[in-house]
Amino acid sequence: MKTKTKEEYDEIVKDAVVLVRENFGNKVLITPNGNIVKAFHHRKRIGSHLTYSHIGHFLKNAFRLKIKNINTLNPIEWFRVKELKRDVVIYPEIPGKSVRDYLASGDVSILGKLARFLACIHKKNVYFRAGHLGNFLIRNDNELALIDVCNVKFRLDTRRRAKSVAYLFFHDRTDHQAFKRYGFDKFIEEYLRYADLNKIGEKCFKADINHRVKKYFKKHPDESMTYL
Ligand SMILES: Nc1ncnc2c1ncn2[C@@H]1O[C@H](COP(=O)(O)OP(=O)(O)OP(=O)(O)O)[C@@H](O)[C@H]1O
Ligand SMILES: [Mg+2]
Repeated sequence: MKTKTKEEYDEIVKDAVVLVRENFGNKVLITPNGNIVKAFHHRKRIGSHLTYSHIGHFLKNAFRLKIKNINTLNPIEWFRVKELKRDVVIYPEIPGKSVRDYLASGDVSILGKLARFLACIHKKNVYFRAGHLGNFLIRNDNELALIDVCNVKFRLDTRRRAKSVAYLFFHDRTDHQAFKRYGFDKFIEEYLRYADLNKIGEKCFKADINHRVKKYFKKHPDESMTYL
């Protein structure tokens, strides 16, 4: 991978606004010319080899999603900054906002669109493991897109379908309330309308979701979340 010095990196992020910070430093920034700069800190090493290549997964997944015609970010540059123990990827900002931010307006109708989009990526065998509402973007042209693509798998089964939906429902308390207002069942019905599963597939999917819901509440008996 191409390398850059700390000075070169500092020049790139000069005047950038920090969007996400983590313990090791700034993680996601936006530059004045509208590029997102995302840094992956090196965590694990065996000998001199990096064993956990986040950036490798990120780049490979972004390209594979593009080939499948799924809206996502478009990496334009990537490099390593050895002094900072970081790999960096740069991609243009997608004009729009995350579905989570969009929901802050109170309009939950977008969740129907999300159900259809999820069914569509599942039809293409894509399992978006980090699929919470902060990682789906609603673009200004009203199309949905995936960001944060480190954790994407290109194999899907009923278990992964149900896991994706349960993750959306239970990952975050505020997201959960939005789904509650929209209707959990309505979301599932909308998803199934576009998922093209046969009767047995639908039955297994619903059974798996119910199992996950029960498991969740058994594990978190004191939670204020509800599922009605
Ligand atoms: N291509 C993009 N276009 C527009 N906004 C983006 C883009 N990439 C990232 N963002 C913004 O930056 C935020 C964080 O990006 P990302 O999800 O990649 O980082 P993260 O480290 O996973 O942060 P978190 O886990 O807190 O969501 C997003 O929620 C979104 O608001
Ligand atoms: Mg994210």
